[in-house]
Amino acid sequence: MDIDTREIRFSAERLAEVYEIIGRYPEGRQKSALLPVLHIAQAEFDNWLSPEVMDYVADLLGIQPIEVYEVASFYTMFNLKPVGKYVLEVCRTGPCCLVGAEKLQSHLETKLGIKPGETTPDGMFTLKTVECLAACGFGPVMQVGATYYERLTPEKADELLEQFRKENKRATYC
Ligand code: FES
Repeated sequence: MDIDTREIRFSAERLAEVYEIIGRYPEGRQKSALLPVLHIAQAEFDNWLSPEVMDYVADLLGIQPIEVYEVASFYTMFNLKPVGKYVLEVCRTGPCCLVGAEKLQSHLETKLGIKPGETTPDGMFTLKTVECLAACGFGPVMQVGATYYERLTPEKADELLEQFRKENKRATYC
């Protein structure tokens, strides 16, 4: 369901998960649950965090909306605008660049007709560049949802794009 056409509210199952996470922290320290709750919120609401979703999270944790905005805008894994079903996060840090990350990024840009930060017109792919994904020995690395794809070549990337098109389901972190 599109985020614009439904009330901002977790499903009962997700809400139970959120309360379980909040319950791990002492009274008054609910903010400590912010990162995992934001991941759940992003997965639940079309893989991005609208201001309404962030306000809802703030309300659940009993904190100010600005406290949510500043965390969500700091980490690249949180999307603050609508994204494609598959967010392709290409590592652009030195070790990956030495083994072909720039070539990979350039190939994806040409293949998809988009630049980093953009989404294909069919809503399938968003391209992002990110800092080190902590898998430097296996570069070039690209993260898609919770999965790392390593030692990528343009040819392997093409196969992945085809696979994603066939699967056609949103890739999230949780
Ligand atoms: Fe790419 Fe570390 S430099 S994973």
